[in-house]
Amino acid sequence: MDMNDVADRGLVLLGCGKMGSALLDGWLKSGLPAGSVWILDPNPSDWVRATGCHINDGTPEAPAVALVAVKPQMMGDALPAMAALGGGKTLFVSVAAGTSLARFEAAFGADSPIVRTMPNTPAAIGRGISALVGNTAATDDHLSLAETLMNAVGQTVRLDDEAQIDAVTGVSGSGPAYVFHLIETLAAAGVEQGLSEDVAMRLAKATVGGAGQLAEDSDEDPAQLRRNVTSPNGTTQAALEVLMDAETGFPKLLSRAVTAAADRGRELSRD
Ligand SMILES: NC(=O)c1ccc[n+]([C@@H]2O[C@H](COP(=O)([O-])OP(=O)(O)OC[C@H]3O[C@@H](n4cnc5c(N)ncnc54)[C@H](OP(=O)(O)O)[C@@H]3O)[C@@H](O)[C@H]2O)c1
Repeated sequence: MDMNDVADRGLVLLGCGKMGSALLDGWLKSGLPAGSVWILDPNPSDWVRATGCHINDGTPEAPAVALVAVKPQMMGDALPAMAALGGGKTLFVSVAAGTSLARFEAAFGADSPIVRTMPNTPAAIGRGISALVGNTAATDDHLSLAETLMNAVGQTVRLDDEAQIDAVTGVSGSGPAYVFHLIETLAAAGVEQGLSEDVAMRLAKATVGGAGQLAEDSDEDPAQLRRNVTSPNGTTQAALEVLMDAETGFPKLLSRAVTAAADRGRELSRD
């Protein structure tokens, strides 16, 4: 199965809010015909209405893909609309946090290929990263197609085991918020040192954005990039001695933060 099958047989998008719209935008820009997409959403936005996709117009009999992008708490109401697509012909893909493969298998049947993904908010600008894991019925082909669909909003990684999803939530799913807070606190520290709020915020945003891009693009790993800008007894070293402190620095702090998010993810998926 590939994007030609998706164009021929159709794709059902259940829930077309922020994440659904970001995905849809990417698919349409990469050439998927609007007429191949069937959207189910009680309040589609003006942008969604203007795409030319089928909106609240039922579903094709055996679409290639049904992608679930409703909030986890709406799942119970939303899934019955797609139960008839179960049985193996349609690949189900979910972007919902906290909804397990077992829950989808209960709704669609264990013979249905299902790929659970965990994207993150930079998907809104095509710079997300999604982790993917499939159920037993999902073949390598199904995972490849799910990757192609998620690549519309950024990069993808495959997991070996669904249990790793909670770790992904702790690192990349919730991670953008940690970085936003890093920007806030870096700017506030700059204001403490005498900068205006505006200048401090611009410096903090561009530093995080630029360093993030450099870390992604460089052939050197982040530890080496850090060493490259740390001269002995210089200014960076003075700051890193604070941030790298084994007890009070980033290592333990981020470990505690990621553990808290992953633990909360485990709790929510048990509810
Ligand atoms: N946004 C992100 O960056 C992000 C990151 C990781 C994972 N996710 C996952 O993506 C999913 C969607 O999140 P989102 O941020 O895109 O939320 P959202 O903007 O609220 O979108 C959900 C959409 O589903 C619609 N909906 C509600 N009930 C429905 C039903 N019964 N049938 C069909 N559609 C229904 C909602 O309509 P109403 O607004 O009228 O209720 C809304 O348009 C969530 O499960 C979330 O965990 C999102």
